[in-house]
Amino acid sequence: MQILALCGSLRARSLNMAILEAAKYAAPAGMEISIFRGIGGLPPFSPDLDYNLPEVAVAFRRQAAAADALIIACPEYAGGIPGMFKNALDWLVGSEEFDSRPVALLNVSPHAVEAEAALRLVLRTMSAPVVEAASRRIPIRNRESTAESLLADPEIRASLDGALGALRHSLLSRTEQ
Ligand SMILES: Cc1cc2nc3c(=O)[nH]c(=O)nc-3n(C[C@H](O)[C@H](O)[C@H](O)COP(=O)(O)O)c2cc1C
Repeated sequence: MQILALCGSLRARSLNMAILEAAKYAAPAGMEISIFRGIGGLPPFSPDLDYNLPEVAVAFRRQAAAADALIIACPEYAGGIPGMFKNALDWLVGSEEFDSRPVALLNVSPHAVEAEAALRLVLRTMSAPVVEAASRRIPIRNRESTAESLLADPEIRASLDGALGALRHSLLSRTEQ
C-alpha cells in the first residue's frame, strides 16, 4: 500500500510537514508513506506546459499515479488554500494519471476551517473521494512541535494511528470490492 503525502506549507519548521513526517513513522504494517518534497519547485501551471513537461511535474504526476491514496496536510492562508498548493493540485488536474485517488485530510490548525472546506471542493471537482474516517482535525498548539514530539504526545499519536488505520481499512475494502 503506497501513500503519497503532500504538504501545503513550504515553511522550514512547518507543523503540517511535522504531522506528515510523524505519519511516515507511524504507518501501520503494509503501508508505506512517502512525502513529495518537490511542490515548491513546480512552476506555475499552464496547460501549455503539458506538451513540454518540466521534470519535477513528471516526477510529481508519476508518484501520484503510483500511489494508492494521498494524505494532505495543508495550512490556511488568508481564508483559503496557499497559492503554491493550489498550483500543485492544478498540476494533478491537468494529468490523466491522476485517477480519482482517495484522499485523507489532516488539519492541524486549532481554528482554521476555510482551507479545508476549499480543499474539499477542489477534490470533489477532481473526483478524488475524501476518506472521512481517515480525515482528522489534529490541533497542534505548540508551534515548536516536531515529528518526534508529536509522536510522543499520546493524544496526537492515538489520533494519527486512528486515521492511518482507517485509511488502511478503507483501501483494503476497496481492493476486496
Ligand atoms: C500569510 C499567512 C496567512 C495566514 N492566514 C491564516 C488564516 O486565514 N486562517 C488561519 O487560521 N491561519 C492563518 N495563518 C496561520 C497559519 O495557518 C499557521 O501559521 C500554520 O501553522 C501554517 O502552517 P505550517 O506550520 O505548516 O507552516 C496564516 C499564516 C500566514 C503565514
